[in-house]
Amino acid sequence: MKILVLNGSPKKKSDTFRMTDAFLRGLNREQKHDVQIVDVIEKSIAPCRGCFGCWQKTDGHCVIEDDQNAILDRYRNSDLVIWSFPLYCYGMPSHLKAVLDRTIPLVKMTMRQEADGTVRHEALADFSRLHTVVICGCGFPDWEGNFDGLRMQCRQCFGNLDIVCVPETPMLNVPEAAVVADPLLACFEKAGEEYAREMKLFPETVTRLETPMIPKETYISIVNGN
Ligand SMILES: Cc1cc2nc3c(=O)[nH]c(=O)nc-3n(C[C@H](O)[C@H](O)[C@H](O)COP(=O)(O)O)c2cc1C
Repeated sequence: MKILVLNGSPKKKSDTFRMTDAFLRGLNREQKHDVQIVDVIEKSIAPCRGCFGCWQKTDGHCVIEDDQNAILDRYRNSDLVIWSFPLYCYGMPSHLKAVLDRTIPLVKMTMRQEADGTVRHEALADFSRLHTVVICGCGFPDWEGNFDGLRMQCRQCFGNLDIVCVPETPMLNVPEAAVVADPLLACFEKAGEEYAREMKLFPETVTRLETPMIPKETYISIVNGN
């Protein structure tokens, strides 16, 4: 399977990417896949200009000639795109959002209404085989609402979607927390194996991955130095 990984953390030592890396290890266990990892922060990707020049050309490319067009080429030929990023202000980091905005060359201006009333642009090509996995880490402990905006955005933007939102991820790069971080990483590895078999994650798997490593109160008091 052809896999594109969009790493949206700007850090060299990303908390989130540790989970994604474990997931990829699981994915590749039975069969080695063709994986391309793009460190988005290293790329030159301007914000969308809103000119709709792409909808005049309809060749699946953006009129801005920067690194996004290579991403679009890989994107449209992938079986799986993994978006890996930290939660920033309840959404994705701005440099990665620029990548998302500039996927509009992959759809056309024409619209269609789905059975549930949702209105979407028609795709430029048949993307029915394309799967999406979103792995998002964040600095807050688990609280209702932290990921709501992101989940809504991802559900609207991506098909065949599995989304995993993990609280307390700075713990993944704290050596003293290995006792709780390593079991989580092992679960990500298993989840990767499951995904390679099923092309989806079971709800129980997602629940396990999203379960906080330590109780909220303990996490808050560690962060606060109490
Ligand atoms: C600009 C900025 C905004 C952030 N916004 C949130 C947020 O809305 N909710 C949250 O839980 N954590 C937030 N965080 C914390 C990061 O999500 C957290 O540190 C994460 O573990 C970083 O992951 P990374 O190492 O993969 O980049 C924010 C961090 C930064 C720098």
